[in-house]
Amino acid sequence: MDYLSDIEAYAAAHPTEALLRYVAELFPGGVRFSSSLGEEDQVLTDMIARGKIGIQIFTLDTGRLFYETYELLDKTTARYRIPVDVFYPEAAAVEALVRSRGINGFYDSVDNRKACCQVRKVEPLARALRGARVWITGIRADQSANRHEMPVVEWDEARQLYKINPLLHWTLPEVGAYIQRYNVPYNTLHDKGFISIGCAPCTRAIEPGEDPRAGRWWWENSQKECGLHAVK
Ligand code: ADX
Ligand code: SF4
Repeated sequence: MDYLSDIEAYAAAHPTEALLRYVAELFPGGVRFSSSLGEEDQVLTDMIARGKIGIQIFTLDTGRLFYETYELLDKTTARYRIPVDVFYPEAAAVEALVRSRGINGFYDSVDNRKACCQVRKVEPLARALRGARVWITGIRADQSANRHEMPVVEWDEARQLYKINPLLHWTLPEVGAYIQRYNVPYNTLHDKGFISIGCAPCTRAIEPGEDPRAGRWWWENSQKECGLHAVK
């Protein structure tokens, strides 16, 4: 974690795109960005692609995403002409999960839900990040109460890499303004009341004034995290 204070200092004094370029140059070939194709992620993809910044983009296809999300992935790679690596869950693990807990078992218990997220997201994420020095995410503080506790730059001890949330202090209107300004492709579900978009069976639209993450695992009273991002 020798570079932590350098990256922190750089992040505090520079705009988002400059920070992306700085880490890409600090760790050539070692920086990966996980995109869920959410609005924030699309902003980062646009910056990386238009700026020709050396950051590898990947997404985790859980096998349960919305049709609109696949459409957006297709549109994004066509528009920017950049590869987005798609990681899938291990087939045998999905088969075992469905055999033991049912095809939609996540509705039955928090334990089942976490097991599904583990197989379909957390394990593929670990594979996608293997060998990386830096992990970039599209997390924003305003997305949830516990995300206010997250820093822009941290050392992820478990994964042994720097985790950077370059948009942490961006507001949703700022994200929207960027998307409009640069005509960035976005998920058409955002126009139908969806804010935070995950898997189709586990995401619903929200009403005005509802918590931004109210539509995720809406039947649970849990912390609404799937294990990708540690909750301290
Ligand atoms: S989640 O933990 O609840 O699923 P959320 O949807 O808020 O996360 O997204 C926060 C960040 O996690 C995204 O900006 C992205 O970096 C990463 N992420 C979440 N889901 C995926 C996915 N399916 N593929 C790649 N990255 C993802
Ligand atoms: Fe499974 Fe739902 Fe988690 Fe997607 S969000 S991995 S479908 S429990």
